[in-house]
Amino acid sequence: MVSFTELLTTQGFGLPSGPLGRIGGALMAHGNAETERRLVRLAGIADTETVLVLGPGPGVGLAAAGERAALAIGVEPSELMRHSCERRCADLVAKGTVRVVEGDAEHTGQDYASVDVLFSVNNVMLWPDREAGLVEAFRVLRPGGRLLVSAHERRLPGGLADAVRAAGFVDVQSWTWEPPNSRFATLAAQLRAVRPA
Ligand SMILES: C[S@@+](CC[C@H](N)C(=O)[O-])C[C@H]1O[C@@H](n2cnc3c(N)ncnc32)[C@H](O)[C@@H]1O
Repeated sequence: MVSFTELLTTQGFGLPSGPLGRIGGALMAHGNAETERRLVRLAGIADTETVLVLGPGPGVGLAAAGERAALAIGVEPSELMRHSCERRCADLVAKGTVRVVEGDAEHTGQDYASVDVLFSVNNVMLWPDREAGLVEAFRVLRPGGRLLVSAHERRLPGGLADAVRAAGFVDVQSWTWEPPNSRFATLAAQLRAVRPA
């Protein structure tokens, strides 16, 4: 029998759906907001740039990116979370600086070298094929484009930096970061890398 904890992990956070997904979405919008905003700040997004956000969930980081970028595209496999992003970013969607599309890390639906910045918060551990997701990230980023990843440190399987290098990225830096609202969020493992120019 599937336990409540397993259901919460999958339907609440992993691929949010139904009532547990709504609860998970609300918790993530609160608990992960500082981490999402930090990654957007670290990305140094210019107002001419296109940003791809993998697994934006409730859309806090997508909204922050859409306020800075020419265009921020959220690629999200959960229908519930796509609707949540569209609600949170309604003004930016209307303005044309945010777009929400169905897809996942391995299948973003974006053109080759069409993106300046790609970021992922708390979903790299959910990708069924991490190598394929990194190959896709490399494909859609333009030469010189930046990759930023953050994940709950305790949930991240090892070897991410090596996998990022193996996908062709350079200038790979990784560190840990304690979110200021750490009553609700846990230590984050973060990484920055560049597609070679
Ligand atoms: C734990 S939530 C994190 C949401 C948000 N980034 C945050 O930190 O609050 C994981 C999100 O990644 C999405 N997701 C699941 N599998 C994915 C995949 N293979 N590629 C991209 N996103 C995925 C889920 O639908 C969900 O919205």
